[in-house]
Amino acid sequence: MLTGKKIAVIGLGTMGHAVVSGLLRSQRVNPDQISATVRTKPRAEKVSKELGIKCLTDNVDAVNDADIVLLCVKPKDIEKVSENLTKKGALKHNPLVVSIAAGTSTGFIEGIIGQECPVLRAMPNTPCFIGKGMTVVSKGSQAKDEHVALAKEIFSTMGRFTELEEKHMDTVTGLSASGPAFIYLIIEALVDGGVMRGLPRQIATELVAQMTLGAAEMVLTTGKHPASLKDEVTTPAGCTIAGILVLEDGRIRSVLARGVETAAKVAGELGR
Ligand SMILES: NC(=O)c1ccc[n+]([C@@H]2O[C@H](COP(=O)([O-])OP(=O)(O)OC[C@H]3O[C@@H](n4cnc5c(N)ncnc54)[C@H](OP(=O)(O)O)[C@@H]3O)[C@@H](O)[C@H]2O)c1
Repeated sequence: MLTGKKIAVIGLGTMGHAVVSGLLRSQRVNPDQISATVRTKPRAEKVSKELGIKCLTDNVDAVNDADIVLLCVKPKDIEKVSENLTKKGALKHNPLVVSIAAGTSTGFIEGIIGQECPVLRAMPNTPCFIGKGMTVVSKGSQAKDEHVALAKEIFSTMGRFTELEEKHMDTVTGLSASGPAFIYLIIEALVDGGVMRGLPRQIATELVAQMTLGAAEMVLTTGKHPASLKDEVTTPAGCTIAGILVLEDGRIRSVLARGVETAAKVAGELGR
């Protein structure tokens, strides 16, 4: 379905880069199907060379003949960017608009660009960079299943994909988009534990990272409840249950759950 489709990526920063890299790596699109934008000419030239795609500083030029417009700017810039595209008539051919901005509703974007364009809200995460991302998409008022199918083609090139109702998107942001940072913090802390016991930091980091990868794969591939997988590791009177009790004393479950709750609340305040 992406064959021959023109894709404009507005805002080729961290996430825009991840999306374009994923698309190119998958070979489902050719570099000449993608045009991207950034703010400054030197960065446009640098990115253009790096990725082999057209990178401009004029959003209107990038969007004019696009079938799909990916808005990858910060939430605070969504209003200005959308207004500018609308005023200059760059969206009058009604392309599919996909915004990845945190806390920014499809209704807000529809209110600026008009009711004709189908709008999707997507929430990817940084592991998209290495094809291990998680992206959730929700439909705006004019978006249909065929539009979600297009988004699935795009974001599946960089990991897993699912669709949810828009009411869940701030929670998704606080969970799977902020989540990598929470896990890095946990990884760092576990590594410190190994270092405290005398392991070289590099070895401890490899041990923890591979263990985290394996544990996550166990959850995804066995379909077992995490509690059941945990029980399989905890021998009665053994070392694992001893460690778990210390973590429970530190209220690790509620601390992590409240972290997600707070991140989700703040996500909802970032845009509109
Ligand atoms: N980072 C994450 O983990 C993550 C995860 C999921 C979703 N998101 C969402 O993804 C979006 C982008 O986040 P990010 O972390 O990728 O931010 P970022 O690295 O700061 O990238 C933003 C990009 O937008 C460009 N830009 C700013 N104003 C522009 C304009 N008027 N026209 C064209 N380009 C413009 C910037 O250009 P310059 O490079 O020239 O400054 C920059 O390349 C945000 O809305 C965020 O909520 C982020």
